[in-house]
Amino acid sequence: MTDDLTNIPYETLISETQLQARIKELGQQISADYAGQDLLLLCILKGGVLFLTDLMRQLSIPHEIDFLAVSSYGKEVRESTGVVRILKDLDKPIKGRSVLIIEDIVDTGHTLTYITNILNARQPASLKLCALLDKIERRRVNIPVDYIGFTIPDKFVFGYGLDLDEKLRNLPFIAVATG
Ligand code: IMP
Ligand code: MG
Repeated sequence: MTDDLTNIPYETLISETQLQARIKELGQQISADYAGQDLLLLCILKGGVLFLTDLMRQLSIPHEIDFLAVSSYGKEVRESTGVVRILKDLDKPIKGRSVLIIEDIVDTGHTLTYITNILNARQPASLKLCALLDKIERRRVNIPVDYIGFTIPDKFVFGYGLDLDEKLRNLPFIAVATG
């Protein structure tokens, strides 16, 4: 398959049907686990956006959303350094709230380690992680991921929120480049 707009050849790694079925399961699990709590879904921009909007439609419990935008240095050498700059901070304090981070993918784990350190200092009641994709083979730092959509091999993926040079976030499935 070749993308009509960008001419990039790719194949589907995780289909739209597979994504939506798994997100429904995650929504049911999170709804049960957080029943009665003051749940805040904290989406990491930009990659987590499609996952957030589908996941929240599968939640049966009240919740709020907020967004954090970060840029990580060092990605040009295909590995984040863990030095993260906050581009857009949260709108509201998280002290005493049950915070669930919604992230597109955990790779080395550096970015999330840095983010969780910053957020834990703000004293939430709890801070857990939900990642759609986990590239477990690439992990450099041990960071517990509480909810994982899919474990994937060490390949660069895009679509469904994840970008290829800022494009193709709109694909409704997870793609992997071919050729
Ligand atoms: P980490 O600090 O190495 O865990 O990097 C995590 C971040 O790198 C994710 O939030 C993504 O923005 C980006 N990333 C890692 N792997 C991929 C990929 O295969 N496709 C698109 N972005 C990726
Ligand atoms: Mg990301």
